[in-house]
Amino acid sequence: MKYHIKLTTEMLKGATLAILPGDPGRVEKTAKYIDPGATFLASNREYTSWLAQINNSSVLVCSTGIGGPSLSIAVEELASLGIKNFIRIGTTGAIQSHIEIPSMIITTGAVRLDGASKHYAPVEYPAVADLDLSNALVSATKENNIPYYTGITASSDTFYPGQERYDTFSKYVIKEFQGSLEQWQKLNVLNFEMESSTLFTIANAFGLKAACISAVIVNRTKNETPDDSILAQSEENLAKVIKVVVNYIH
Ligand code: URA
Repeated sequence: MKYHIKLTTEMLKGATLAILPGDPGRVEKTAKYIDPGATFLASNREYTSWLAQINNSSVLVCSTGIGGPSLSIAVEELASLGIKNFIRIGTTGAIQSHIEIPSMIITTGAVRLDGASKHYAPVEYPAVADLDLSNALVSATKENNIPYYTGITASSDTFYPGQERYDTFSKYVIKEFQGSLEQWQKLNVLNFEMESSTLFTIANAFGLKAACISAVIVNRTKNETPDDSILAQSEENLAKVIKVVVNYIH
């Protein structure tokens, strides 16, 4: 039994693909969207797991919590139980003005603003997505007629200062991050989120595959705060894409 995720190899019934939302509250809905007969496996801290069956294969849906440190625990423990393909489904803030809401961003590479990935590989090591899994995400997004963008994501350890937000308690962002939003825009980074750099670095370092699709819930060039109806729409769009992707893979 793995210490944090509370899963065993037997419980995964041969699953080699894991869908990774950050939010434990999104796991059941995602699993049931893939397979209405999906079953609950375990829940401990931020890690909730359900198992879906598709075309006689098992697919695990397991939440990772927010940020690199908690995601790294999930990926470590899942890899040791035989998971070889990891697809993160999350939400994101776009930083380029042309990116619409709702739309999807499929991350091809991540700026490693996180700390956790540095425990796995030096900063020169690239945080890149697996090409086959990313192509599957692109095809599934197209099939659902959802607008999408592919490109580089800045993956930060913090939602507030690391993404240069000033609507905070102190209204202060340390010098390192002052002007960073504009810098990433000028370097053609598409968006901010908080997990892809850790996921891609660990997966590549382990010789495993990972990809990331994020629903755009806010455009930082227009406003700062996500809206509940957009969150609900994003959740449904992600589930639709994942249902098609798991069919391609299995
Ligand atoms: N997730 C983030 O990390 N940033 C956002 O702006 C929205 C979702």
